[in-house]
Amino acid sequence: MRVLEIGGGPGAAAKAIAGRIGDGHILMIDRSAKSTDLAEKNAAVEIDAGRLSVRRVAIEDFELLPNEEPFDLAFAVRVGALDGRHPEAGRLALQRIADALTPHGQLLIGGGAPLRQLRLPPRRTPTTSQPSVDAATDHPR
Ligand SMILES: C[S@@+](CC[C@H](N)C(=O)[O-])C[C@H]1O[C@@H](n2cnc3c(N)ncnc32)[C@H](O)[C@@H]1O
Repeated sequence: MRVLEIGGGPGAAAKAIAGRIGDGHILMIDRSAKSTDLAEKNAAVEIDAGRLSVRRVAIEDFELLPNEEPFDLAFAVRVGALDGRHPEAGRLALQRIADALTPHGQLLIGGGAPLRQLRLPPRRTPTTSQPSVDAATDHPR
């Protein structure tokens, strides 16, 4: 399984998941260099083992690298772009996430337990340049 964590901060959740992900992989992204530096330090063992990687990028700008496989699951905890605090950033973020997931990929968000599933807009084909945006709802797609 391939997992994308958005706004992972110092990497506690990503590190814990990397310890349980078997032959899968988790990519933690965060827009803050302070956070990604901390995550790289805190999860050095998991990174060296190839189960975790860390990338500094805002979710509004995130896209798969060339030849990077899409993700089966994305999640975010206490990240403003995805919890309704910043609706325009949220719309951009949802499209970026949809484009980075497999066709049956899911997005879970939360401010703590339990996480809830967010509906995603349709995944764009690589040749589609403009986002097809839709408001976030609590309903699974
Ligand atoms: C409140 S902290 C939560 C960290 C961690 N998820 C947790 O629950 O402990 C929010 C984190 O999300 C990051 N963040 C906020 N907006 C972001 C965005 N648009 N794209 C990527 N990271 C973002 C921040 O830099 C910060 O590290």
